[in-house]
Amino acid sequence: MLQKLGVMSAKIIVFGNQKGGTGKSTLAVHLAVSLLTQGFKVATIDVDSRQGTFTRYMENRRTTSLEYPGLPLSTHFSVFEDQNDSISESEKATKEKFARLMESCQEFDFIIIDTPGNDSHPSKLAHSYADVLITPINESFIDLDLLVKIHSSDPNNLKPSTYAEMVWNQKKERAIRDKGSIDWIVLVNRLSSVSSKNGDELEKILVALSKRVGFRLARGFKERVIFKELFLSGLTILDKEQLSGHVTLSHIAARQELNYLLKTLNITTKTESN
Ligand SMILES: Nc1ncnc2c1ncn2[C@@H]1O[C@H](COP(=O)(O)OP(=O)(O)OP(=O)(O)O)[C@@H](O)[C@H]1O
Ligand SMILES: [Mg+2]
Repeated sequence: MLQKLGVMSAKIIVFGNQKGGTGKSTLAVHLAVSLLTQGFKVATIDVDSRQGTFTRYMENRRTTSLEYPGLPLSTHFSVFEDQNDSISESEKATKEKFARLMESCQEFDFIIIDTPGNDSHPSKLAHSYADVLITPINESFIDLDLLVKIHSSDPNNLKPSTYAEMVWNQKKERAIRDKGSIDWIVLVNRLSSVSSKNGDELEKILVALSKRVGFRLARGFKERVIFKELFLSGLTILDKEQLSGHVTLSHIAARQELNYLLKTLNITTKTESN
């Protein structure tokens, strides 16, 4: 029996950060497959049409599924910005197209959306539909600066970044559209396996900032080779375990990290509900 979230329509989870290369696409794929493995119906949407990593990952997965027919697959969509002569016409057309896509995906339990590491109109739209926004950052003060401008380790001395301002604006858009709210989650990705002074300091500042900026801090993901080597097959750590039956300690730890993310999202895993 599926463990639905007590809501009537699809739960929309958006991965976003205007900083490139922080792990949005990688974590979007892993969360989508994790939910599929739990038996949920999942739609995946790539708003980063220029780079198309999410789409390419899912295409590779579809090809691999020809060899392994049991491989769970999402229903995947790519969103392209409309190209009209006028920007306002393009934005209007894209907005309407996006609204129709959201409407048509309401039969799914979850909609997972990956956005580009830059500012774009489709990315803003996607943010405005989020029930949950997950922002991965790398373990670096440069990444933190793209979230919130801090001038020292004094969390009182801060200014919101353009990204934080964009999120606040999309929170307003969301509230106006349907009175809904966006649960903003920040997590550190590619954590070094040895604890460092830099990492501890970063976490301390993130905890202090979370209330003021309006996000929740979730447990992060460690730097693991396994996250990098599966793209061509479209597989994830979860499939790799099932297909090869070979489980390494790194696999188990990575699966645990994914389970923590599901917990943060209030999703009960099958193994827990049994
Ligand atoms: N936990 C991790 N451990 C090791 N490598 C990782 C991890 N997460 C992501 N990576 C690697 O980091 C790089 C960037 O990841 P990804 O493409 O998912 O980021 P992104 O935020 O989607 O980037 P962009 O903004 O360009 O779309 C990739 O090479 C990916 O394989
Ligand atoms: Mg990406």
